[in-house]
Amino acid sequence: MKIIVCENYEEISQEAAKLVADLMTAKPDCVLGLATGSTPVGMYKKLVEMNKKGEISFEKVTSYNLDEYYPIEPTHDQSYRYFMNQNLFDHVNIDKSKTFVPNGLTKDPAKEGAAYDAAIDAAGGIDLQILGIGQNGHIGFNEPDDALIAGTHITSLTENTIEANSRFFASKADVPTQAFTMGMGSIMKAKKIVLLANGTNKHAAVAQMLDDKITTSCPATFLKLHKDVILICDKAALNG
Ligand code: F6R
Repeated sequence: MKIIVCENYEEISQEAAKLVADLMTAKPDCVLGLATGSTPVGMYKKLVEMNKKGEISFEKVTSYNLDEYYPIEPTHDQSYRYFMNQNLFDHVNIDKSKTFVPNGLTKDPAKEGAAYDAAIDAAGGIDLQILGIGQNGHIGFNEPDDALIAGTHITSLTENTIEANSRFFASKADVPTQAFTMGMGSIMKAKKIVLLANGTNKHAAVAQMLDDKITTSCPATFLKLHKDVILICDKAALNG
């Protein structure tokens, strides 16, 4: 795993946006794997600026998001579809019909999960997957567990994740207890992975990811099996 250590969040966002922009320049019809949460917000801001200046175009880009709460309406202001519209899609020249987020209202998760993975494969696979990391080492909503699931699936959120994400909701009781997430197998199929982490609250998960063990109790440790992962982080996330 390559590590880029940055001075601050601004620099993390800049480095990440540059990697995405370079790919979009080299391959205008690239397939991006996108994440939500607070970490990539700065990167999305930079990408919006670059698009407004005419430095990059999203015209031919296809995107697949990692996850969505379940159940949730796409118009709910805490849905990940809403987040993506607000932070990126509404501000750039992307064709929204080519932006995909797992369906937070699915009645048939097994069928839709398999279809989501098949659609990614049919699009040629994800060229660049952006990831954040949970304080508990989750990737997407692949939570620490006895076993991980390879494909896109419905999962229960751990208490730790519900607590961490309650900052976005009026109260903890409002946080959905389940999510529809790409599986670790779906994520590991991406050609390149860029993981962003900042702050001391991510240090334990980052440290466990970087040590020598691979364990389902820290899903991020599986990223060590991928041959093209870049961790972009600050010193607090790396060193505590
Ligand atoms: C979001 C996602 C999650 C977050 C993680 C970190 O789509 O898949 O794994 O990346 O929970 O969230 P933040 O960035 O809010 O600390």
